[in-house]
Amino acid sequence: MANLLIVAADENLVFLFRHVFGEHEIRSARDAPEAVEAVHTQRPDLVVMDVRGPGTEDLDALRAIRLASPDQLIIVMTAYGTAQIAVEAIKHGAHDYLFKPFDVGQLRQLVAEALEIAAQRSAARLPLPAVERPAPAGMIGASPAMQEVYRTIGKVAPSDLTVLITGESGTGKELVARMIHEHSRRADKPFLALNCAAIPEPLLESELFGYERGAFTGALHRKLGKLEVCNGGTLFLDEIGDMSPALQTKMLRVLQDGTFERIGGTETMDVDVRILAATNRNLVELMREGRFRDDLYYRLKVVPIHVPPLRERGDDLVLLARHFLQRARDELQRPGLSLSNAALEVLKAYSWPGNVRELENVIKGAALTCPGVIILPEHLAVTAPRGTGRTGPDPAAAGTAAKETLQKLLEPVFAYFHDLYQAGQRVEPFDRIEEVMLRKALAAVEGNQSHAAKLLGITRTTLRKRMAKYGIVVRQQVE
Ligand SMILES: Nc1ncnc2c1ncn2[C@@H]1O[C@H](COP(=O)(O)OP(=O)(O)OP(=O)(O)O)[C@@H](O)[C@H]1O
Ligand SMILES: [Mg+2]
Repeated sequence: MANLLIVAADENLVFLFRHVFGEHEIRSARDAPEAVEAVHTQRPDLVVMDVRGPGTEDLDALRAIRLASPDQLIIVMTAYGTAQIAVEAIKHGAHDYLFKPFDVGQLRQLVAEALEIAAQRSAARLPLPAVERPAPAGMIGASPAMQEVYRTIGKVAPSDLTVLITGESGTGKELVARMIHEHSRRADKPFLALNCAAIPEPLLESELFGYERGAFTGALHRKLGKLEVCNGGTLFLDEIGDMSPALQTKMLRVLQDGTFERIGGTETMDVDVRILAATNRNLVELMREGRFRDDLYYRLKVVPIHVPPLRERGDDLVLLARHFLQRARDELQRPGLSLSNAALEVLKAYSWPGNVRELENVIKGAALTCPGVIILPEHLAVTAPRGTGRTGPDPAAAGTAAKETLQKLLEPVFAYFHDLYQAGQRVEPFDRIEEVMLRKALAAVEGNQSHAAKLLGITRTTLRKRMAKYGIVVRQQVE
């Protein structure tokens, strides 16, 4: 029998734990002070803690427990499925976390694993890494594949280890690098990024190492390279697979002993720079072809992080689409902007070869080109979805589905008119429905009458006549 402490303001969670873990001794605490007290007096084998979101005091409780009792094992549960919480939790020493909703089997397994570790640790007395301070984060996504990425970021950020970030183009490799930096002890020092594919070879060399005056024609002053400029900080080498063999050799030396010479210089410079590298190319293949040094490869991939393609992230697509839509609303100051269900279906069916960057651009483009406030499939600049040659849902099937939905939706409306009729009142159901449709259509296209007419499938003249009939006035649209 183990001793579990549940930290949760929600009584139901405590109840669930008592029920699921009947074989263990379950204690509970409602907030940070109670939790710290309980950890101190009861020495639980495992703490399971509910974190309701960033900016709540729940994360403070986690920090407080770790400060008071650095090797306490803690599992965090959160309904707030973001990278922020996940990375914070791991960084502050949580052993692992669970995104709600979870199934009981998952919970049982995680708790069993943690208790196993607790047993081993109490035998060996292994200390955990020290508590770090919090930092901002900005990755969206809660899919299992991304949770794995957050876990690794949380674990590796506080160290000075070199990280090799792989993944297709646009998956967020640079964002991962920034997050590692922001959660490291170097967070208040510079983070610089250098794209090895975008810069021609001689320029890349001087960008990295700098040069002395007179090193080559045109070198009129001494120039410091990025390695010196970001001393104490983090240097992110993007597309490292494109670096020339000569530069690879120089970088290997930097990685091994932190030294280099400026171009044309004799003085050996000593720097303390953490290197993070990324590539969307297959380095193993490049090694086989003799175009990438294997010693550099092994030195770089001390910690590998693979960022999964968007098509493997399930519902993250919807979260990301909403996130970019919100950004477009703010930037374009169009608070009413929204995605139609049909448009969302198109996004879901597409295979996203350009990953998150492509999604970001598609949403931005749609927000700019859509005349009204509702983004429709035709505003989305995506090519054929996976497998099929079409760009949207099957119109015939969509028609049938719409009819069924409409039938259901209109049932209460029909019942209402029926009641009025039986009560002997005069009813005009078609007019009432038409009026509502007209008003909705005009609102959706911000009062633009020619768009409203198109949306409703009637001519502008008909639209105007019917607006007059129902006394609908819209403010003049400034074209
Ligand atoms: N999980 C995410 N949440 C929010 N924004 C993201 C996420 N992943 C990527 N982005 C955004 O998508 C864009 C592409 O990300 P990033 O530049 O990090 O990708 P990359 O893998 O480095 O791409 P490339 O291979 O083209 O260099 C950026 O604007 C980034 O902010
Ligand atoms: Mg990049």
